[in-house]
Amino acid sequence: MPPRSSTTRIRRLERARRLIAGAIHLPRMAAVPALRGQRDHTTLLSAATYSPWRTDVEFRRVYGEVGSATLLDEMRLYELWRLAGQVGHLEGDAIEVGCWRGGAGCMIATRIAAHAPDARTFLCDTFSGVVKAGAHDPTYVGGEHADASAAGVEALARRLGLDSVRVLTGIFPEETGPAVEDRRFRFAHIDLDVYQGSRDAFTWLVPRLVVGAVVVFDDYSFALTGGVRAFVDELEGHEDFVVVHNLNGHAVVVRRKDSGAGAVAR
Ligand SMILES: C[S@@+](CC[C@H](N)C(=O)[O-])C[C@H]1O[C@@H](n2cnc3c(N)ncnc32)[C@H](O)[C@@H]1O
Repeated sequence: MPPRSSTTRIRRLERARRLIAGAIHLPRMAAVPALRGQRDHTTLLSAATYSPWRTDVEFRRVYGEVGSATLLDEMRLYELWRLAGQVGHLEGDAIEVGCWRGGAGCMIATRIAAHAPDARTFLCDTFSGVVKAGAHDPTYVGGEHADASAAGVEALARRLGLDSVRVLTGIFPEETGPAVEDRRFRFAHIDLDVYQGSRDAFTWLVPRLVVGAVVVFDDYSFALTGGVRAFVDELEGHEDFVVVHNLNGHAVVVRRKDSGAGAVAR
């Protein structure tokens, strides 16, 4: 028998991958009404297999401490871990807007503290749930994720020995922005679930982001959080930012220059 060419093998694997993904997507659509009729949503099953979050010893240690205090999966946490480890050469602090119980924020703070010992990490939340849900948001109505507290986040930071963490309670930026208005930022994680909240947070941050700063938006690719995607898509083409749609659900925005143009045109 002639040897099967690698092209044939790759094509067969790709067909099998699509079939399996389709078979998983059908029951998902039944369970998640927001997915129905959305032709630009499928169940993603990547051909890639490299999964270093399973073996990175330091990541696993920190994940063991924070895993139960975050809604993010290991893939997204690992991306935050990797990116927060690459801004040590920049100036400024780190911020997470929408920290809930602080798991992802404390993971970011751990990494920032290791690479930029003088930087602070600000963790912001209303601690009374999501605000500013509106017409762009398919499922959020406001008040979701109210089951967290500033005291719980502070206790987690203490357990991890993180002196650099400051918790800001209230609506960002209107209520808590003034406490950090004179600071500059090298890293931001925006995890607010809705269009207007994401837009207001990013718009406030833009004049304070140093060149090279990394901003990660959670919720870019999920069916329930289309408002975040709507806002991030408005940034594409902005001369100051590179926008990367990462298939794990994040959008990663990197400041490549500072033209003074502000966040978005409208
Ligand atoms: C999905 S949760 C964040 C999850 C968290 N990053 C984690 O690691 O699991 C979204 C959070 O954003 C908060 N939030 C939404 N809009 C906000 C705003 N404008 N200012 C402050 N917090 C806000 C909500 O209270 C909620 O806790």
